Amino acid sequence: MKKKLTYLLIIIVSWSVYSCAKKEGCTDPTAINYNPDAEQDDGSCILASTSPPPPPTNGTATPAQITIPTIFSQLLPPPLIPPNNPLTVEGIELGRRLFFDPILSGDGTQSCATCHAPDIAFTDTNQFSTGIDGLQGNRNSMPIFNVAWNFSQKFFWDGRAPNVEAQAIGPVVNPIEMHNTWPAAMASLQAHPTYPNLFLAAFGTNVIDSILVTKAIAQFERTIVSGNSRFDRYLLGQISLTPSEISGFNVFMTESGGDCFHCHGNSANPLWTDNTFRNNGLDATFTDLGLGAITGNPADNGKFKTPSLRNLVFTAPYMHDGRFATIDEVLEHYSTGVKLSSTIDPDMQFSGQGGVQMTPQEKADLKAFLLALTDSSFINNPAYKAP
Ligand code: HEC
Ligand code: HEC
Repeated sequence: MKKKLTYLLIIIVSWSVYSCAKKEGCTDPTAINYNPDAEQDDGSCILASTSPPPPPTNGTATPAQITIPTIFSQLLPPPLIPPNNPLTVEGIELGRRLFFDPILSGDGTQSCATCHAPDIAFTDTNQFSTGIDGLQGNRNSMPIFNVAWNFSQKFFWDGRAPNVEAQAIGPVVNPIEMHNTWPAAMASLQAHPTYPNLFLAAFGTNVIDSILVTKAIAQFERTIVSGNSRFDRYLLGQISLTPSEISGFNVFMTESGGDCFHCHGNSANPLWTDNTFRNNGLDATFTDLGLGAITGNPADNGKFKTPSLRNLVFTAPYMHDGRFATIDEVLEHYSTGVKLSSTIDPDMQFSGQGGVQMTPQEKADLKAFLLALTDSSFINNPAYKAP
């Protein structure tokens, strides 16, 4: 009995000595586990970029699938879903909520949807997007659809992100966009009355980190699919096109016409892009090196991602720097405005003569065809709107 009491005494005494010592913990305010009461750093800080891999994502969440348009299932390989981020009902719903929630921005005013609005094919109408501090970049916001069929797995105009998970890390902390820090964004989510439970439902843990945030957003983005334009329905034999739309498609497909199909696809590629990086003759000298700035290879200077031609009616202005306000201006570029440079794409076959030199009728028909790639059911899909 006496022996036991002595033990207890030793424990109590050593505990009180310990607690009088400096309180240890993580003292780095940028760490996820920053402890404001800690006086001495114990090396336990977990920084956003070095967080341990999250637990398996399937948990008890309900598996979900992308709704694949008929024309895609006929012509394209299945969508790319990374094995470490399977789609779930709860994950998609959480991602949708995060995408539309300004909580991720530094001052709580801007969400992803500010620059990627669903009613205009997930882009914005500005030449350059403006971030929370009123600063502008030098790139036009990109529409978001059919990203699960981007087999090049290169995102942004210059291809610098390898997947939509990695892509979503950037805007939150970009000083000309949402200008937040990930620790601050995660702290706001962790302190929110419902988010921890939504993460628990989606990923089996209520400890929120940047990896899970971007996984959820990526799941939502992969469900954003556009494959039901008039031209799609024409290919399925459901409707007929106008004579002008048919002529325009022929202009698109003919080398002596518009010569567009090498880069933007054809009726066997319903994405209307090959997702590769090319120089389409916008400039003789480059102010923005595009892909070249990422690879460091001068042969890539002036190359940018070939955009899809779906939904153009919503996605103006056009090109990586939004230099063209209308489809007519774009067609005039390809017709007479092409500039030669060392990296111009070999598929810009008529660059030596300034472009493909289309007649006014060819341009009108080509435009009619391009507008037949408009997908209104995609724009109006309630699953893509703010929750
Ligand atoms: C201030 C405006 C702005 C905000 C806010 C913004 N973006 Fe963007 N987004 C852009 C611009 C501009 C680009 C093109 C940038 C470039 O190529 O350098 C882009 C590109 C993208 C792309 C690449 C698409 C492709 O096909 O390559 C995706 C995906 C994307 N953004 C998703 C997001 C997500 C997710 C968020 C929120 C976490 C977000 N964006 C917030 C403006 C914005
Ligand atoms: C050599 C490949 C190539 C050919 C041929 C080509 N394009 Fe492009 N197109 C591109 C690239 C690359 C871009 C993006 C360039 C940039 O922003 O710097 C682009 C951009 C566009 C855009 C702007 C889309 C947006 O969302 O900003 C339209 C519209 C377009 N092309 C239509 C056409 C038409 C119509 C033709 C035929 C007359 C054509 N293209 C021929 C590669 C090509």
